[in-house]
Amino acid sequence: MTDNQKQEYAADESTDDPTTDDMAIRTDVSESVSASGPTTSGAPVVRAENVDVWYNDDQALQDISLEIPENQVTAMIGPSGCGKSTFLRCINRMNDMIDAARVEGDLHLRGKNVYDDDVDPVALRRRVGMVFQSPNPFPKSIYDNVAYGLKIQNKDGDYDEIVENSLKRAALWDEVKDQLDTSGLDLSGGQQQRLCIARAIAPDPEVILMDEPASALDPVATSKIEDLISELAEEYTVVIVTHNMQQAARISNKTAVFLTGGELVEFDDTEKIFENPDSQRVEDYITGKFG
Ligand SMILES: Nc1ncnc2c1ncn2[C@@H]1O[C@H](COP(=O)(O)OP(=O)(O)O)[C@@H](O)[C@H]1O
Ligand SMILES: [Mg+2]
Repeated sequence: MTDNQKQEYAADESTDDPTTDDMAIRTDVSESVSASGPTTSGAPVVRAENVDVWYNDDQALQDISLEIPENQVTAMIGPSGCGKSTFLRCINRMNDMIDAARVEGDLHLRGKNVYDDDVDPVALRRRVGMVFQSPNPFPKSIYDNVAYGLKIQNKDGDYDEIVENSLKRAALWDEVKDQLDTSGLDLSGGQQQRLCIARAIAPDPEVILMDEPASALDPVATSKIEDLISELAEEYTVVIVTHNMQQAARISNKTAVFLTGGELVEFDDTEKIFENPDSQRVEDYITGKFG
């Protein structure tokens, strides 16, 4: 099993009573939503407030505050090592699995701090799905890959229908509908990544985190993933890390620019960031003067 697959299994580890934990979060969330009125498109789904992250004594993120709007694509860009993946992993508490990592500050999902003691990280990760850089299907059939999250949760429902719908939403159904019993590992790289997206969608998350989801793919497969991301944003809140600035410019509504030292230098509408950023450092980065 690759590290990525291990991460994915770990993300789905069962708890004693996942249903109850899940409901506990949902109750808190609906209370906070009703208190602030109905959620409209563009309202913040994720709100980071003064988030710091350390790995042992090294600080990887410094005082990050930002709001991620609903049903939009938010891109995180910046040079390698500036903390993009670390920030993504704060949102679904994947950093919990790194012993050296320590997170401080508040990270709210629809008004509820995901670091509160009563939040079960496994239940959280059902609401905040993740897709990794290199496609990591399980060594199982296409069908079982998509149904995996439902099965471990013992979820009721028509699995055939959920699998079909998830594959359709991931723009993969037409290519695999006659071979659902074959191994997910037999697909091409681009298809494997769309399979991983279908697997992330099947439990019906609210937020989908993607960490450089196309960087291991060829241009044709990349373009399919980009089209898909724009479609997904009609239904989900998408946060994507990319080192490809053109990609961020093409597919995102908002862009966050992180720079060396784990600092969020600017966060604004994508158009503004690429056409007229406030910060000279962002301007220099975008025009290729460094990074
Ligand atoms: N598991 C880890 N253990 C220790 N340090 C880490 C770990 N993951 C990342 N880091 C460090 O944290 C900083 C930010 O890393 P990362 O979030 O992976 O950046 P990016 O995704 O922008 O390339 C880097 O200095 C990196 O070396
Ligand atoms: Mg990274």
